[in-house]
Amino acid sequence: MSVKTIVLGVGGSIAAYKAADLTSRLTKRGCDVHVVMTRAATEFVTPLTFKTLSRNPVTTSVFDEKESWHPGHIDLADRTSLLLIAPATANLLAKLAHGIADDAITSLALATLAPILIAPAMNGKMWLHAATQDNVKRLRDRGAEFIGPEEGLLACGYEGLGRLWNVEDIAARAEAILMDRRMARKLRAKKSSANGKIR
Ligand SMILES: Cc1cc2nc3c(=O)[nH]c(=O)nc-3n(C[C@H](O)[C@H](O)[C@H](O)COP(=O)(O)O)c2cc1C
Repeated sequence: MSVKTIVLGVGGSIAAYKAADLTSRLTKRGCDVHVVMTRAATEFVTPLTFKTLSRNPVTTSVFDEKESWHPGHIDLADRTSLLLIAPATANLLAKLAHGIADDAITSLALATLAPILIAPAMNGKMWLHAATQDNVKRLRDRGAEFIGPEEGLLACGYEGLGRLWNVEDIAARAEAILMDRRMARKLRAKKSSANGKIR
């Protein structure tokens, strides 16, 4: 897999349809996108949409059939350069913060060493709830990066903080993280070859 491999985790938010646009933008930027959906996410958008836009199979369960003996979510966890979760639901944030692994996204999140970029989307009261804010802090302290949510008119009819961040900005941030990783890898390789020459 190339260094531009991204696993895009899609949660059961009304904003899940925007993840289709995100998939398309990331693919157009040359990323190899592998979409992993929660069961709730499949209530909003079909896996077929993501499969077509990403040109890759879509994972909706840890029990998805794979040709290889290697469990699919572990395989993806090992190969990805970035785990992007967009939209991330309040439920996903809670599970991620507490190491619960009862679906393909949260299992993969525990199994990967890749950086995690999270774009939440939810009702403003859910976002501001102390439980959610506590979960966000836990995840930030552990190194996860957040983008959004932004303020605006929410699908639930309320105005407030909870809208998924602009997808073009999410795509740009994801690409910037991948670039940073590539630069860091190059620097490490340069350093170790320079060390080899000194010895
Ligand atoms: C129409 C509708 C819209 C929803 N939108 C959101 C949302 O934007 N954010 C969120 O956290 N939950 C939302 N929910 C609730 C989640 O779908 C629910 O908490 C679900 O258990 C999340 O599962 P998941 O985290 O496994 O995807 C919505 C539910 C419905 C019925």
